[in-house]
Amino acid sequence: MLNPAKTMTPVQDDFEPKIVAFLCKWCSSAGSDLAGVSRLQYPPNAVPIQVMCSGSVSPLYIMSAFKKGADGVLVSGCHPGDCHYMKGNYFARRRLFLVQKLLNFVGLEKDRFRMSWVSAAEGAKFAEVVGDFVRDIKALGPQRRLKVRR
Ligand code: FES
Repeated sequence: MLNPAKTMTPVQDDFEPKIVAFLCKWCSSAGSDLAGVSRLQYPPNAVPIQVMCSGSVSPLYIMSAFKKGADGVLVSGCHPGDCHYMKGNYFARRRLFLVQKLLNFVGLEKDRFRMSWVSAAEGAKFAEVVGDFVRDIKALGPQRRLKVRR
């Protein structure tokens, strides 16, 4: 009889997730700057991509990031009611549900995608959001389902 402990995939202790972070210029990107100038410690795994509004992030951008090898994708914008374009983050929030369904459809864990609201004054929150996401993606392991090999 097979020992289940020996047939399981080994956990990679040295796995460092690649996170693509789409950050709204007005709030979350400024929040990440504040985390930096405040010298807050958080994992360096997130590659920031500044966008004008979280509502401008198409689900195609998110799927493209996964295809290019991202282990997780974060979209972060202004708090509801604070969007500089009035309703952009409300549109983004609606897309969260769609993206999670899309990930499920293609066989990817929905937890590899996350949205958060971080204002320009919330450097500590930004550091916490990234730290929590990196920890959760580490637990999921590398994303190989959509990654296109070159
Ligand atoms: S301007 Fe920040 S979410 Fe719209």
